[in-house]
Amino acid sequence: MGKYKIGLGVTGGIAAYKAIEVMRLLQKAGCDVSVAMTRHATEFVRPLTFRALTDKHVIVDDYDPANPDPIAHINFSQEIDLLLIVPATANIIAKFANGIADDFLSSTYLASTAPVMIAPAMNVTMWEQAATQRNIERLKADGVRFVEPVAGELACKTVGTGKLEDVENIVRQALAVLSVPPAVAGGVLRPSEKAPPATAGGTDLAGEHILITVGGTREAIDPVRFISNHSSGKMGFAVAAAARDRGAKVTVVAGATLVEPPENVRVVRAISAEEMHAAVMKELPEATVFIGSAAVADYAPANASGAKIKKDGRDFMILELKKTRDILADVAKNRTANMIVVGFAAETNDVVGYARSKMEKKGLDIVVANDITAKGAGFNTDTNIATILTRAVGSANAGSSDIPVEIELPLMSKRELADKILDEIIKLRNAVPVNAAKSGNS
Ligand code: PMT
Repeated sequence: MGKYKIGLGVTGGIAAYKAIEVMRLLQKAGCDVSVAMTRHATEFVRPLTFRALTDKHVIVDDYDPANPDPIAHINFSQEIDLLLIVPATANIIAKFANGIADDFLSSTYLASTAPVMIAPAMNVTMWEQAATQRNIERLKADGVRFVEPVAGELACKTVGTGKLEDVENIVRQALAVLSVPPAVAGGVLRPSEKAPPATAGGTDLAGEHILITVGGTREAIDPVRFISNHSSGKMGFAVAAAARDRGAKVTVVAGATLVEPPENVRVVRAISAEEMHAAVMKELPEATVFIGSAAVADYAPANASGAKIKKDGRDFMILELKKTRDILADVAKNRTANMIVVGFAAETNDVVGYARSKMEKKGLDIVVANDITAKGAGFNTDTNIATILTRAVGSANAGSSDIPVEIELPLMSKRELADKILDEIIKLRNAVPVNAAKSGNS
């Protein structure tokens, strides 16, 4: 049996060195990797590194007399099962989008019928530039897949989106295109012998059904006006995408959000706190994990008007507000056996102190505390800064007075934080409760 053949295109950015790790992980997963580099990429990493590790000529220029194949872009492009570009500069994206073939890699793109996956990395302004986004949309419409860059501190010392996604995640997504199950590390499958479609990532959450609340809620004052908050839904959807990639079945109850939900995630819309409460309670019996990332309004107008309220010359208006039902607390009260319940705490001061008391009062297994006043954290950012409080592994009782473990995390993308939260869920799932362990020993 042969192996999947991957054409790894490396272009000229500071993240070019990460392509070496991508190549190694693909090889470990049983793929046969051939590398092509742009001229600028060779300024960052030498072709020799890839040649030594692949035992193959690394093509930079078709016309180089040292190139053993005179029509390399045709042969290379037609032998591969996937063309993977790591990292991709704005320049190569623009060339692909516009059919420019003025070097080996862009000629290979045009000459290939294999699926193409692009992992961009660049400065935030270049990433957000209308031209770059237009080129990306064009390529997506042509069927090209993207592993979107994440937010974080960039090589140019700015903070924003443009950082190459984690290499493990790039490799997971590449293997998913080829339908190589992650467990097949070292496996030897040909496309014609494809395994059943795998999830885009690992399978450590396979068997879990994760129910997540996302976004803000809107509490009607009248048919025109409402009370809401700044939640964008980015954090919750990042958790949903990460859980899906790790093999979980995911249902999202989404409040007010403009963020496009990730694919292969079931989305139930529920705009007000009351609607969200009802939707969560309906979905709860199927869930094994609940994650409350939504910013649910704590108060809603007690008597929303059915008609638009008129100003009638009034300078002041008094609105009577009524406490909403606490979805998270009700989930914890009605949890099925073995359900793991995770809350968030959006705080402005004594962040960990308030989170600890929420954990105890609401009976939670994990609380993700974020200081929404910190730069790069909280609402409507691509990054977050959080402390995860988790029930001590081995402690049997959620919300018990056992001192929770505190994991203080630095600034990272919401997607990276999502994976950290899921790691803690796995640890709790795999832990033997103290009481069970004790009774087992007696
Ligand atoms: O959506 P983004 O723009 O990405 O922003 C992310 C976020 C800041 C909204 C997110 O990281 C976050 O902190 N979410 C929780 C916000 C919040 O409402 O925190 P809270 O401290 O008020 O509530 C504590 C917990 O109780 C939360 O899990 C909340 O979902 C839950 N809750 C609160 C009130 C209520 N009536 N029902 C609830 O379930």
